[in-house]
Amino acid sequence: MKKILITGGAGFIGSHVVRLFVNNYPNYHIYNLDALTYAGNLENLKDLESKPNYSFIKADITDADKMDALFAEHTFDGVIHLAAESHVDRSISDPLAFIKTNILGTVNLLNAAKTVWKDSMDDKLFYHISTDEVYGSLGAEGLFTETTAYDPRSPYSSSKASSDHLVRAYHHTYGMPVVISNCSNNYGPNQFPEKLIPLSINNIKHNKPIPIYGKGDNIRDWLYVHDHARAIDMIYHKGSNGETYNIGGINEWTNIDLIHQLCKVMDKKLGREEGESAKLITFVKDRAGHDMRYAIDSSKLMDELGWKPSLQFEEGIELTVDWYLANKEWLDNILSGDYEKYYNNQYNER
Ligand code: NAD
Ligand code: DAU
Repeated sequence: MKKILITGGAGFIGSHVVRLFVNNYPNYHIYNLDALTYAGNLENLKDLESKPNYSFIKADITDADKMDALFAEHTFDGVIHLAAESHVDRSISDPLAFIKTNILGTVNLLNAAKTVWKDSMDDKLFYHISTDEVYGSLGAEGLFTETTAYDPRSPYSSSKASSDHLVRAYHHTYGMPVVISNCSNNYGPNQFPEKLIPLSINNIKHNKPIPIYGKGDNIRDWLYVHDHARAIDMIYHKGSNGETYNIGGINEWTNIDLIHQLCKVMDKKLGREEGESAKLITFVKDRAGHDMRYAIDSSKLMDELGWKPSLQFEEGIELTVDWYLANKEWLDNILSGDYEKYYNNQYNER
């Protein structure tokens, strides 16, 4: 039985990846390693608790000794590394947390893997999950490809860019078998309500203002989280050693158009008159250094591995709203923690 370590599996994307691997590969044992920060939530994985091929390990990737001990104990066959501090706004107020987890944490995992895999790296793989934000910000034209020069502009994207470079350095210097993927904005069930879509769903539900940074004309390329998990599955199994794959939704929206679309869906689901939720839209002070546009060219992944997104955005956003409205308890549990303090710090000054 192959042993696969998935880091950050209690978070948004990680929980969907863990579920896909546990359910689709009964011949793999999946170890989900997560520190359970504010963003980690074992409620996301309740349905997997009794599965014989699933184990949870509570650990912090910044703890090098612990990572060494875990790799020595299990000699994992593969690593899919998602654990990270992931929210750009938090990286602006607390960059150091991002440097520690995203850079040092990644090096700790690489070192631990290098030590236990030193005799034979042949059938091993370190798969690093990264972001399109490492490429910087686009103007009106063009798409990020795998050869676009890195130009990260926030503490978050700089820490992710740094971790990408380190993964490539371990490949070139030590022969570590690696793949990297850089994905666009994900949305879907289980996303922490600090990110634009779940934050707006929650605010609309509670008739609170929907805070739109600047003029709302920044553009993001949105991908349903299940399609990201499907891409990760394909890249893990069919990707070529040392390669990078971009993953995107072919689905660009300005923030303001996206929020109008979301408001339309919410009006329908909440039985409100059309146009009611949109009255909550409030333009607030822009994010510092706000990247203008992200858009991904996924043709390498589509042509070489046969991946394509399975859902249209209109369908995905409806599924997402349905999930948040049906999972009131999940959302209420988050709102009852430190969320209010974060929200007030982040938005009351704007
Ligand atoms: P998330 O914030 O929802 O989850 C991150 C998880 O990592 C949490 O469960 C958290 O507890 C865990 N974690 C944080 N610090 C840790 C530490 N020191 N040790 C162990 N575990 C720790 O993030 P997400 O949105 O699911 O993103 C997952 C990965 O995908 C990240 O690497 C992110 O950079 C990348 N990514 C995210 C998106 C997106 O749109 N959300 C897009 C592209 C790439
Ligand atoms: O592109 C991939 C990245 O997408 C991931 O690497 C990050 O982990 C993920 O958080 C996401 O980053 P963004 O900064 O693009 O996502 P966020 O949901 O925070 O913001 C989306 C857009 O909406 C962005 O232009 C900022 C804007 N925004 C966001 C919030 C939270 C608002 O206008 N108001 C808000 O309150």
